[in-house]
Amino acid sequence: MATTRFQFERTKALRLAAYRMGRLSSRRRILEIGSGDGAVAEEIAARTGRRTWGLDIALPRSRREGVAFTRGDAAALPFKDGSFDAVAFHFVLLWLRDPPRALREARRLLSSEGVLLLLAEPDMTARRDEPDTRLGAAICDAVKRAGGHPDAGSRTAKWLEESGFRPELSRTINDWVTIEEREETLLEVEELLEKGYLSQEEASHMIEREHSAPERKVLMPITFGVGWPSY
Ligand SMILES: C[S@@+](CC[C@H](N)C(=O)[O-])C[C@H]1O[C@@H](n2cnc3c(N)ncnc32)[C@H](O)[C@@H]1O
Repeated sequence: MATTRFQFERTKALRLAAYRMGRLSSRRRILEIGSGDGAVAEEIAARTGRRTWGLDIALPRSRREGVAFTRGDAAALPFKDGSFDAVAFHFVLLWLRDPPRALREARRLLSSEGVLLLLAEPDMTARRDEPDTRLGAAICDAVKRAGGHPDAGSRTAKWLEESGFRPELSRTINDWVTIEEREETLLEVEELLEKGYLSQEEASHMIEREHSAPERKVLMPITFGVGWPSY
């Protein structure tokens, strides 16, 4: 599922913290893996004033200022060893079949002084929907059916260690991110329907419940930080 503009805004403070920890402004060659429509890669290009690479299994429909997009699989990255000074992930590990493999690939691409920027990785299994429209459970199910790991945020530190990094990670303050915008939950239902993870009947039922809820809240822990090459 795509990262919505709501998610992009909500994780901004986490990305800024990771950029500072990873000394982003001093990095010359930067790659975002699983860059989607390129919003994060564009942000990195604007902050560094340098062209940023965005790699994804599917190319985006439109261009982004300062971003060079390339198609590729996180499991076998089409770049030479040591080609980058920073490699970033934002809401991606959870969608991969084998996250440690992608992290080992990221490690291979990094120069000796390079850094892995773990900008935001959620633990969907700890997501709490109030009221519980079953949307969180449907998203976890979709991630699993796509071969991914809905609990990625809780496994990231271990995955990094296994893949040659020394993790320096945190979870969001108070452990939770709050989503107030109902438009976002409706977008999530629509996307699950579009991709075939919900039947029309399930989606209609969910939309009805979304509309009838007087208030909507989603609480979800997000992991962020950096990984330093450890060998
Ligand atoms: C939730 S989106 C995040 C997009 C972007 N990082 C952001 O936050 O705006 C996950 C992205 O991972 C990409 N992706 C999934 N599996 C991939 C793989 N094996 N290799 C590269 N990209 C992959 C998807 O195509 C999608 O664009």
